[in-house]
Amino acid sequence: MIYVTGDIHGTIDIRKLLKNNVTEKITENDYVIICGDFGLVWNYKKEDGKERKWLKWLNNQRWTTLFVDGNHECFPRLNSFPVKEWHGGRVHEVRPKVLHLMRGEIFEIEGSTFFAMGGASSHDRGPAKGDTDAVIGKSWWPEEIPSDEEMEYALKNLEKHGNKVDYIITHCLPTMYQGFVKQGQFPPDKVSEFFEKVNSIVKYEYWYSGHYHCNVDVTRNMSVVYSRIIPVGMPVRNADIIMGIPKYRTGETVLTMNGDEPALAMVLKVEPWGPVLKRSDEPMYEITFFGDDFSEKGIMIKESQIIEKSLIYEEEEEEDIDA
Ligand SMILES: [Fe+2]
Repeated sequence: MIYVTGDIHGTIDIRKLLKNNVTEKITENDYVIICGDFGLVWNYKKEDGKERKWLKWLNNQRWTTLFVDGNHECFPRLNSFPVKEWHGGRVHEVRPKVLHLMRGEIFEIEGSTFFAMGGASSHDRGPAKGDTDAVIGKSWWPEEIPSDEEMEYALKNLEKHGNKVDYIITHCLPTMYQGFVKQGQFPPDKVSEFFEKVNSIVKYEYWYSGHYHCNVDVTRNMSVVYSRIIPVGMPVRNADIIMGIPKYRTGETVLTMNGDEPALAMVLKVEPWGPVLKRSDEPMYEITFFGDDFSEKGIMIKESQIIEKSLIYEEEEEEDIDA
């Protein structure tokens, strides 16, 4: 099996890969692909103890970790790892079971083809923040944007494959879709424009990106993934729920079942890791149904029992005010 997940940012968001109800299912010979912002090759001087420890941890897992680069990688160090031929394309071997899928390469894994193309513009540091001098070569690198040569290589390689692959793995999205996911927060850039072109000429089954720190199905076959770990080809909405990463917040209105009837409820309390004494395999929520007394203790339900977040109550309240 091949799984896809979003940014891990070194040790910051790696917890989704720690033992939980999803990764227990990942076995020998499986693959986990990270859609950029791997971040475990980060220290600009040399590999530090924290990186070493977590790279060792990843290398010791049953699965093989694959990643495209994002905008938060130390590119000079990443590019200095040995280049190897792997499944039809080139990788940087960070560890024997931790491989960087190089830009523009097409890999064949378990009978499917994967086009890998990392890179994205940082909006939290570097030129976007006007602080290039302070961070350049230390926590921001211009190589985050693929070069003309890398883009040309990618297009030629796609052409060689008849402009048809099963999966596309990137860090950012084509301009139009990144605008759709994060209205106005990510202006068009060289990479997103390049992906516009790729999107218009390449036929693909499914496209996954990271970068935007959300789990969103953008089109019928394009998703942004962050906290979820999903079997390749599956939309985010069908992916398993992960403990520790609750979808809903205190004070939100949600639609759930009250007996046999759908009913609106308010979230009173979030238990991201399940209740302390009774562990669950998914986040749990204390809720109270509208119409019940809010001051009384609510009931506990699992995240999978919530059908969706609802805005109905807020809209009704606004109408009342206008009236
Ligand atoms: Fe990120």
